[in-house]
Amino acid sequence: MKFAQILAVFAALTLSIGNVMAVPPGKTVEFASPMGKVTFDGKAHADKGLKCADCHSKPKLFEMKKGGDKINMAAMNDGKFCGTCHDGNKAFSVKAPDSCVKCHKKDDAGAAGGGGGGGTGGKGDAPKN
Ligand code: HEC
Ligand code: HEC
Ligand code: HEC
Repeated sequence: MKFAQILAVFAALTLSIGNVMAVPPGKTVEFASPMGKVTFDGKAHADKGLKCADCHSKPKLFEMKKGGDKINMAAMNDGKFCGTCHDGNKAFSVKAPDSCVKCHKKDDAGAAGGGGGGGTGGKGDAPKN
């Protein structure tokens, strides 16, 4: 009886750890780059109606593992990885000169370990597609 309870606790813990690792609902993956850090926001993408399968299985664009893919601009400009959607059609293009900063955020303070909040002022109503 007691042993069963311990097992149950372990099972619950294992499950919750699994959930914490999932990117999409409310999690982000960050990519460092010389152009500035890129933050992939799972929620922002889920809010656009994208499902796990759209990125992880139907076309397998990304591994379910942070750092599991060798992502670079050349591949994306070629329509791979983020560039599958960020082609100026389904989403803003990886090639458009004014789009770089939508993904690459310069953080000139550089120091601040905790990754300070927000900086997401003017989104919301994008004027045009
Ligand atoms: C719009 C694309 C997209 C969608 C939709 C998406 N993911 Fe991901 N996912 C990514 C990317 C990009 C990574 C990081 C891959 C890398 O670093 O190479 C990732 C990583 C992960 C990881 C690894 C996280 C880590 O820290 O190692 C898990 C787990 C994951 N996704 C689960 C899911 C689940 C579950 C869903 C659906 C609820 C989902 N993803 C939907 C793009 C997506
Ligand atoms: C959809 C998001 C997105 C957009 C838009 C984007 N990038 Fe990137 N960029 C990335 C990601 C993700 C990486 C990969 C970081 C890593 O893991 O090395 C990257 C990497 C880079 C690198 C590192 C070297 C390389 O070639 O991979 C440079 C330089 C770069 N981007 C420049 C640009 C420029 C210039 C633009 C605008 C014309 C741009 N990026 C637009 C997401 C984006
Ligand atoms: C399956 C399609 C798909 C893939 C793959 C994808 N995106 Fe997106 N992304 C979208 C859509 C759709 C939007 C919303 C439309 C728009 O803003 O043009 C969006 C919006 C964004 C935004 C702005 C929204 C926000 O507030 O965060 C960023 C930044 C972004 N994506 C980065 C990335 C990066 C980095 C990758 C690759 C690691 C990636 N996306 C891969 C479809 C995708």
